[in-house]
Amino acid sequence: MKLTAVILAAGHGTRMRSSLAKVLHPLAGKPLIEYSLEAVKDLSDDTPVVIIGHDADNVRETVGSRARFVMQEQQLGTAHAVLSAEPILVGKTDLILVTSADMPLLTANTLDKLVQVQRENSGPITMLTLHNKQSRGFGRIIRDGGGAVLAIVEEAQANSDQLSIEELNAGVYCFRANWLWDALRRIEVSPKGEYYLTDTVAVAVMEGQRVQSLSLNDSSEAIGINNRVHLAEAERVLQDRINFSWMIAGVTIKDPETVYIDADVHIGQDTVLLPNTHLRGSTVIGEGSIIGPNTIVEDTKIGNNCKVFASVLEGALLENHVEIGPFGHLRKGAHLCEGVHMGNFGEVKNSRLSPGVKMGHFSYIGDAQIGENVNIGAGTITCNFDGTRKHPTEIGADAFIGSSTMLVAPLIIGERARTGAGSVVTHDVPADTVVVGVPARPMDKNKNK
Ligand code: UD1
Ligand code: MG
Repeated sequence: MKLTAVILAAGHGTRMRSSLAKVLHPLAGKPLIEYSLEAVKDLSDDTPVVIIGHDADNVRETVGSRARFVMQEQQLGTAHAVLSAEPILVGKTDLILVTSADMPLLTANTLDKLVQVQRENSGPITMLTLHNKQSRGFGRIIRDGGGAVLAIVEEAQANSDQLSIEELNAGVYCFRANWLWDALRRIEVSPKGEYYLTDTVAVAVMEGQRVQSLSLNDSSEAIGINNRVHLAEAERVLQDRINFSWMIAGVTIKDPETVYIDADVHIGQDTVLLPNTHLRGSTVIGEGSIIGPNTIVEDTKIGNNCKVFASVLEGALLENHVEIGPFGHLRKGAHLCEGVHMGNFGEVKNSRLSPGVKMGHFSYIGDAQIGENVNIGAGTITCNFDGTRKHPTEIGADAFIGSSTMLVAPLIIGERARTGAGSVVTHDVPADTVVVGVPARPMDKNKNK
């Protein structure tokens, strides 16, 4: 039986009180809708269908070629949303899995189990339920004395007896396709003016068909996002899951409550994450590195056996055995080669520091190529911006840049050259030459000695 997933993502998300569509709000660094796409990806070869409406263009752009789109012009409720997929799905598939883009914690495993139950089911619906004292505004599952499902009652329409029911609707269903479209058309508008997908259950029961259900073992999977409190709850659960899986994979996390790792980050074995470490975006960390405390690493690749202490790294590349911090800042295009040491209060942008470079204290290196084993004295600055344009600096291998040197770019400093403390270098310096002063001039050869 062929399966097609339909992901509901057209709603406004009014309760988020946001100019951003609900399904595009980030969770562990990725828009909510990414999680539903990921969860359904391996369940079927058929490309999933995403129902879009509110902020459709941005949702379409985020999802790209991973789905087919159906535009729900007016958002008249979840049943109306599914029905809008009829023109592209009728007669094309056997089972339809409906899930919502605001349910990011549902696992592929749970969805697969739900589909398996429906594959065996002679009736038209299998739905996912959970047991929880806190209702979070979810629909209540009404059963008869024998335990058969009779209906789902939305919280807004529930009476006080129904409100006390602790079995809730997760909002995820697997339907027999050739039954669904007609059933959806038979649903009547609710007192709220919406067509509820939940009413498919009552339609099936009215026909004398049995509705199957699967109960979630871990109710945290059903943390749906309707407002920002839910978003924070989901973030906590997801961070716990992510941290747990990295610890099992051999990463030490000293205080997991304060460590935030985005969903797509990768970390090697025996790396240690100290408190208040944030690993974001596409960050990759090798083995045996120590990161933190109080460190933010974004879209950065860090090699093996590095130490990153109380620093901020964005769009950078660190090879093996690199040390940085405390209070280092690497910006886009910073490339620190094997064994580079960068001490406190350094900033590097769009520059390559070759193996063995030492930059101990208070320096800014921008748009520069630094040769092997160069020593960059405290307070050195590449003056790379003339107010209009950026200019490059090149420093040859084994050069020694004295403390507080201003390197006024564009500039080339030759191999083994030296600059005196406090010099302002405005002209290229040949190899093996010492320059001093403001502006810096070569020293008398005899005095050099
Ligand atoms: C829905 C269920 C509720 C369940 C809960 C679980 C209904 C009527 N209620 O309520 O029983 O407990 O989910 O999370 O289904 N959407 C559209 N088009 C629309 C309306 C909604 O695409 O016209 C999308 C939304 O973007 C969202 C999803 O459908 O992704 C669910 O809508 P939402 O308004 O969040 O429903 P809930 O109130 O959460
Ligand atoms: Mg919802």
